[in-house]
Amino acid sequence: MKLALPVILVLFQIYFSLATPLNLEQNRYTIVGGENASILDYPYQVEVLYSNSHSCGGSILNNKFILSAAHCFGSAQASDITIRAGSSYSASGGQILQVKTINAHPDYDPYTQENDVAVLELATDLTYGPGVAPIELPSNTTTFVDDQAANATGWGYTVRYGPYAAAQLQHITVSLLTTETCRSKYYNKYLYDSMICAGELGKDTCTGDSGGPLVSGGLQFGIVSWGVCGADGFPGVYAKVTYYLPFIYNITNNCLPISFKTKNPIPDGRVVGGQKASIEDFPYHLSLLFRGNHICGATLIDKKWALTAAHCVQGFDKNLLSLRAGTSIRNADGQILRLKNAVIHPRYASSLVDFDIAILELAEPVTIPNAKPVDLPKEGGQVPYGVMAAVTGWGAMDEDGDYLQVVYLPTMSRESCMRGYGILTQRMFCAGYFGSENKDSCQGDSGGPLVVNGTIYGIVSWGYGCTKKGFPGVYANVPVLSRFIKKVSNLK
Ligand SMILES: *[C@@H]1O[C@H](CO)[C@@H](O)[C@H](O)[C@H]1NC(C)=O
Ligand SMILES: *[C@@H]1O[C@H](CO)[C@@H](O)[C@H](O)[C@H]1NC(C)=O
Ligand SMILES: *[C@@H]1O[C@H](CO)[C@@H](O)[C@H](O)[C@H]1NC(C)=O
Ligand SMILES: *[C@@H]1O[C@H](CO)[C@@H](O)[C@H](O)[C@H]1NC(C)=O
Ligand SMILES: *[C@@H]1O[C@H](CO)[C@@H](O)[C@H](O)[C@H]1NC(C)=O
Repeated sequence: MKLALPVILVLFQIYFSLATPLNLEQNRYTIVGGENASILDYPYQVEVLYSNSHSCGGSILNNKFILSAAHCFGSAQASDITIRAGSSYSASGGQILQVKTINAHPDYDPYTQENDVAVLELATDLTYGPGVAPIELPSNTTTFVDDQAANATGWGYTVRYGPYAAAQLQHITVSLLTTETCRSKYYNKYLYDSMICAGELGKDTCTGDSGGPLVSGGLQFGIVSWGVCGADGFPGVYAKVTYYLPFIYNITNNCLPISFKTKNPIPDGRVVGGQKASIEDFPYHLSLLFRGNHICGATLIDKKWALTAAHCVQGFDKNLLSLRAGTSIRNADGQILRLKNAVIHPRYASSLVDFDIAILELAEPVTIPNAKPVDLPKEGGQVPYGVMAAVTGWGAMDEDGDYLQVVYLPTMSRESCMRGYGILTQRMFCAGYFGSENKDSCQGDSGGPLVVNGTIYGIVSWGYGCTKKGFPGVYANVPVLSRFIKKVSNLK
């Protein structure tokens, strides 16, 4: 064994090193056990091309950045690399985009395969559409368990002189293994903290392209890195995405949507730098409860109707949701209201957090005196840009965390916000500040209101790094979504 393992490791280099001319058994490079798949089911998958030929896989972080593996690039120049997005086929279709910069991890070690991660910056923006959408990354506290199912996709391993990209996208379901479990399968060597595995003993795990994504529950946990295709007892090894979040966020300038799909699926909006607010001044602000506990903000728009974010409601049993009205204190006082119905926008897309709106119908009207509805925007109205808006919510759990907070933030046009996020749809706009000086730029409770002059224009939807980098919060655009509100509620 002592001798055998280094030999295997050397082989890995050859397997996966694009820059090396190869002459290995070719059947090693085919996907075993995969099935034809459609890009429509894996819209985050892209093909990485070297001199217009298939070389690796990758995944879409946003419309400017692609995640892949460092070993795919060797000494390649960005001008040699393009990506194909939105096609199920390795040799045709989709959008072809030029890569502008290859950001391989500076500490990538081609011998140990440590830090096998790269972020590609595109020269032009991807266009989202069918078969083209970003993947969500787990947060640094998201964990998985041994044997949790994951999807690996790709067109197959390939080498410079090899055949061997499958014509059509291949998919296989594999079982995740934590670093600790996998380490023992590699004789407690070669498996670093930055690596995870997938596969079962004796089963082939040689699936997907190098650089391609390993995804479970809509979150990318791994990047295909190395392994011994088909060798008994050696699961495939993947770079651990959570380990590289600081690197990825640094290159992408923090402009990725945060994940709402943590293991504990409670959205985490908060007001930072706000001031104490009284419910009398913001009588429309509601707390959405799950099993009687605050999970999100909501807004009263009528004595029997309220708005919140789709991501606050999705996946929750409606019978266990309720609202609390007319109180400044989280989880205390006010009036508890049962729900008759919760309607999520039919086009709500959790991967993009698009159409992030839900309408709540109350089982009985609000009667507590200090709860009053906010106005809806006029028919055909628009978000007023460059004005100060009131965003309310319960803050972080620490100081004053149980008392309602308000923060006043400038609204920002979608276009100016896109320069930072690069990922906004027509149903989104921003409020807050760019830049690290302004600490007051955090959004309120997820699902809570953004109000200008007594009219609701936004629903707190998503954001990234509000405290550190001063990225503006992103809000669902209520005027753009008002047809849905009117259709469901019949309100004028
Ligand atoms: C998989 O796709 C390829 C190319 O599209 C096709 O030739 C092949 O027949 C398909 N295989 C199956 C089992 O459907
Ligand atoms: C996780 O991320 C948060 C916020 O970015 C940071 O404060 C924390 O230190 C990170 N934790 C670990 C274990 O990296
Ligand atoms: C694998 O992908 C399919 C199709 O997108 C999806 O239905 C399934 O839930 C995914 N499985 C896991 C474990 O994420
Ligand atoms: C972030 O990127 C800058 C510029 O490329 C670099 O100097 C810095 O070390 C990086 N920080 C981390 C945490 O990777
Ligand atoms: C606020 O609303 C009032 C009454 O609806 C209106 O008269 C006033 O012009 C509005 N102010 C702004 C800044 O839009």
